[in-house]
Amino acid sequence: MFILGIETSCDETGVAVFDVQRQLMLSNALYSQIALHEIYGGVVPEIASRSQLEKIQPLVSLALERAGITLQQVDAIAVTCKPGLVGSLLVGVCYAKGLAWALGKKIIGINHLEGHIFSTFLRRDNTVSTDVPFPHLSLTVSGGHTAMYLVEGFGSYTCIGRTEDDAAGEAFDKVAKMMGYPYPGGARIEKMAATVGFEDYFKYPRTRNPDGNIFFSFSGLKTAVLYHLVREGAYSMTTGPVAGVSDELKAKVASSLLVCITDIFLKNIELAFKKYPTIKGFTFGGGVACNQYMQERMAQFCAIKGLSFHFPPPAFCTDNGGMIAFVGGYKAQQEKFDTFTLDVGK
Ligand code: KG4
Ligand code: ZN
Repeated sequence: MFILGIETSCDETGVAVFDVQRQLMLSNALYSQIALHEIYGGVVPEIASRSQLEKIQPLVSLALERAGITLQQVDAIAVTCKPGLVGSLLVGVCYAKGLAWALGKKIIGINHLEGHIFSTFLRRDNTVSTDVPFPHLSLTVSGGHTAMYLVEGFGSYTCIGRTEDDAAGEAFDKVAKMMGYPYPGGARIEKMAATVGFEDYFKYPRTRNPDGNIFFSFSGLKTAVLYHLVREGAYSMTTGPVAGVSDELKAKVASSLLVCITDIFLKNIELAFKKYPTIKGFTFGGGVACNQYMQERMAQFCAIKGLSFHFPPPAFCTDNGGMIAFVGGYKAQQEKFDTFTLDVGK
């Protein structure tokens, strides 16, 4: 059984083909719009949906060609239907429905976050991991989301905490922007932090966990860094980033921010681990899961607690069609198909 997976929830067009019987990702084609949005410091929704429309057809052709199959051989089409930018989502959902209707194929709407949660099963060699245990905890962190899940089986998961305001990836992106760097800034923050040894120079405030509950909030942290940059003369409230600020100061800000956000994650992972002592593993997905410093700190924590630790390679961390095709694969096996009333959602 071949699943065509389509992801168009934000600023990436991803199309993949997953072979369910062989549990193998045959192709994972991607077009990233980063260059289109870079100068605006964030994603512009109208530009994003227009670009999705231009790229979807060539990417479907490319994914099929790389997989070595034809459209007729596809058994079901899995498409991200929520959450995301409505204009971008509509392109994928309308395209997938049209294709499925014309070819007489089954259609499956996929929650983007379920894609990220189960992307942690995907490996660098395009095979599927067989050693991610259930139940496990999953932390999904991207530019748009920060949430923790208790995962009990394929497609069976419960959100046990999500950010009250901004996503952690957005905090990285906005702080990078305050220091004059283009969108997205997460990878650059990590690189800068490495130059000053991943130390906590400025001790930015950590969120507290009310009543010992899992809790994420990053808008206050973003503001704390903003005021710090203003005090240091590195940012002007009227004109933005100030030129000529030392690289060392910027690197120390980046390092302190990275250590702070990692500490917040670990605190929450520890609380979740206490609350759900039966969990056997921990997984980390989403664009921010590319961060090697975070991966190392989490690996240390899991080693101490006796938990197995899993995260996908970068191509399956950031938005991609592969994770949608993979989720589509187990949903097809569970016979969880949608009808043509499938619509985009929040
Ligand atoms: O999953 P993704 O591609 O898109 C969303 O669904 O938002 O994640 C993109 C996010 C951006 O905020 C980007 O700055 C962040 O992932 N990111 C990183 C790193 N690489 C990408 N954040 C921290 N460290 C990284 N190495
Ligand atoms: Zn995402």
